[in-house]
Amino acid sequence: MLTAATLVASVLALHLPSLVIAQSVLAHVIVGNTAQYDIGQWTSDINLAAKYHIDGFVLNIATPYDGTTSTQLSLAFQAVHALPTSVPFKLLLSFDYLGGAGAWVDADVINIMKTYCPSGAYFHVDGKPMVSTFEGPLNSNIQDWLYINGSIPGGIYFVPDWTSLGPEGFSTDLVDGAFSWDMWPDGAENASTAADSAWVDWLSPARKSYMMGVSPMFYTDLPAYNKAWVWRGDDMWWRRWQQVLEVLPDFVEIVTWNDFGESHYVGPIYHPGVPNTPTANATAYVDGYSHQAWLRTLPYQIAAYKHAYNASKPAPTVAKDKIVYWYRNAPANAGNTKVTGNNCKSDTNLFGYQMCFAVSDVLQDSIFAIVLATKSVTATISIGSGEPTVFLGLTAGINFISRPFSGETGKVEVSLSSGAHGEGPAIVSEPVRGVANFNAYVQCAGGC
Ligand SMILES: *[C@@H]1O[C@H](CO)[C@@H](O)[C@H](O)[C@H]1NC(C)=O
Ligand SMILES: *[C@@H]1O[C@H](CO)[C@@H](O)[C@H](O)[C@H]1NC(C)=O
Ligand SMILES: *[C@@H]1O[C@H](CO)[C@@H](O)[C@H](O)[C@H]1NC(C)=O
Repeated sequence: MLTAATLVASVLALHLPSLVIAQSVLAHVIVGNTAQYDIGQWTSDINLAAKYHIDGFVLNIATPYDGTTSTQLSLAFQAVHALPTSVPFKLLLSFDYLGGAGAWVDADVINIMKTYCPSGAYFHVDGKPMVSTFEGPLNSNIQDWLYINGSIPGGIYFVPDWTSLGPEGFSTDLVDGAFSWDMWPDGAENASTAADSAWVDWLSPARKSYMMGVSPMFYTDLPAYNKAWVWRGDDMWWRRWQQVLEVLPDFVEIVTWNDFGESHYVGPIYHPGVPNTPTANATAYVDGYSHQAWLRTLPYQIAAYKHAYNASKPAPTVAKDKIVYWYRNAPANAGNTKVTGNNCKSDTNLFGYQMCFAVSDVLQDSIFAIVLATKSVTATISIGSGEPTVFLGLTAGINFISRPFSGETGKVEVSLSSGAHGEGPAIVSEPVRGVANFNAYVQCAGGC
């Protein structure tokens, strides 16, 4: 006999999507870079992320647990607990197996999860706490996750980044989903969905979820860590979000909120978190290069994603016209650098694995902009006293434009026919103090 309860259960089983709070957008936070945070700083970062519609932070934690990691986890969770209910922000853990003092041991992973997963501040999927990793296959036994899962009452929702194994490189029985770190272009290519599609094609038949990475750029020059390369960023803040609409992943992870050394931060620059030693010093390429204006486009991009994934979610809208623009302030071939295009083997990067390119072959010398418009507008971008480049017929919604430097130098100015006007630091022909800097200035004009 069909009782009301079984009827409800079977109706729910038919109509509930398997992931009750999929289509979430999270941001990757390097907890090691928050070493001197206090609760006020966590609250401020969380409110900023929530203001731009990010649903939660993925807290990347490296060994050892005692010290910064344990102190900062506690503060971050306290900060989320204290939020008003109008801010539905959550946190989840990502165990970093390559950073810090080496691989995590299972007992610590289980203890940390037992401490934080039951928290109301923890991000749950299908009633289970979501847990991720940064790698692990190279220095731990990934089968252990079955035991770890079994040690947490009710289990976990496990979405590791095991990109080193690639799709088909492990059993889908071990996981609930996968996250891919493979999100930057190779050489002079545009960012593509090839890697994302390979993961989705493998995960979907097993009914496992996919978390897609969205990053605005990647540039690092930290010789002490054998890291001195750049990948094409250029238009990624536009292109990758468009690709999210094609791939329609179950989750998006923004990479990152605060990794200053790799230049892909979108959160506020926090000076104690910027690498600053004689042989690993990101200060020169991070100081003065706020990326927070990239956050300004997020409410639109996130709404577009959620609406495309689930039509019952509101379609994206633009309240006020704005233009978010970014560029490097010198041509890519100006100045001295040991930085290479791609993560290729060089004297400053002994562990490279890709083909080497000149930076100028990988990066485009252009000013890039996203225009969010309430109705049709015209945009102009000019450099110095040169002729402005005019972009006619931009439409209501989101638009992407760019103009090459074309050898021009001088102050950058952007404007929209609806009134926005912004200026930015000059494009110069030689970088300041002779050393090339491939980080981007990011700014916003109009209803920012
Ligand atoms: C994790 O444990 C839960 C609860 O015991 C179980 O339902 C789930 O299948 C387990 N997950 C994996 C990947 O084995
Ligand atoms: C990158 O994309 C742009 C615009 O879609 C296109 O014009 C260009 O040819 C592409 N470049 C490569 C290397 O595919
Ligand atoms: C790092 O670089 C900055 C800016 O160039 C400089 O002021 C600072 O002294 C450097 N720090 C170290 C430890 O070398």
